[in-house]
Amino acid sequence: MTTAAPTETEFDVTPILAERWSPRGYDAAFELSDADVAVLLEAARWSPSHSNSQPWKFVFARRGSADFDAVVEALAPGNRTWAGRASALVVAVVETERDGKALPWGLYDLGQSVAHLTVQASALGLATRQMAGFAADRIVSSFELPATLEPRAVIAVGRWSHADDVPEAVREFDELAPSRRSRKPLDEVLLRPVAGAALDVPDIDGR
Ligand SMILES: Cc1cc2nc3c(=O)[nH]c(=O)nc-3n(C[C@H](O)[C@H](O)[C@H](O)COP(=O)(O)O)c2cc1C
Repeated sequence: MTTAAPTETEFDVTPILAERWSPRGYDAAFELSDADVAVLLEAARWSPSHSNSQPWKFVFARRGSADFDAVVEALAPGNRTWAGRASALVVAVVETERDGKALPWGLYDLGQSVAHLTVQASALGLATRQMAGFAADRIVSSFELPATLEPRAVIAVGRWSHADDVPEAVREFDELAPSRRSRKPLDEVLLRPVAGAALDVPDIDGR
């Protein structure tokens, strides 16, 4: 994906990860091919999970479908301003219980499955932005989800665009992405020093 936010990582992580970022500007004419849809779901499906329980479910709603419109209606107003231009909105749903037993690692597993989908999207040159800003109860009623299935995120998928037809506020948001994107320094992330490793990673924040 051509990026507004090249990530200057301290060490060379794989380009697929380094090039991933979360834009809000999407090409409203771009359509995912059937092959793209299949590969994205395949990546999510082959994610690891606790006891191979695979506690994830998805609604993969392409722009132009009634499902897509239902997801847009469930979005928080701020997200609704940009996400309707994405090629697809994917609702990520966790199965909380199976055969009367709780699936305690479900949320962990769902997040990892979505991570695989986003990295696969990056490899295909596609952009994604995940959203927690949506009304879960509206998704539950639109898609008639039982009590054991909880929608936890919506993921916009599409082709990043910075063209004139993208609303100005959205373009500005993406233009500021390189300065806005930052990460905590490693010493705030590591609870203990790594024994025997001289990790000279000062402060990777703000770059
Ligand atoms: C669980 C989750 C919820 C998020 N919710 C929203 C959201 O509702 N709206 C939005 O615009 N971005 C949302 N984001 C995007 C994050 O703000 C973004 O991933 C973060 O700032 C890091 O930027 P990057 O993905 O470009 O590295 C969410 C991301 C995650 C993982």
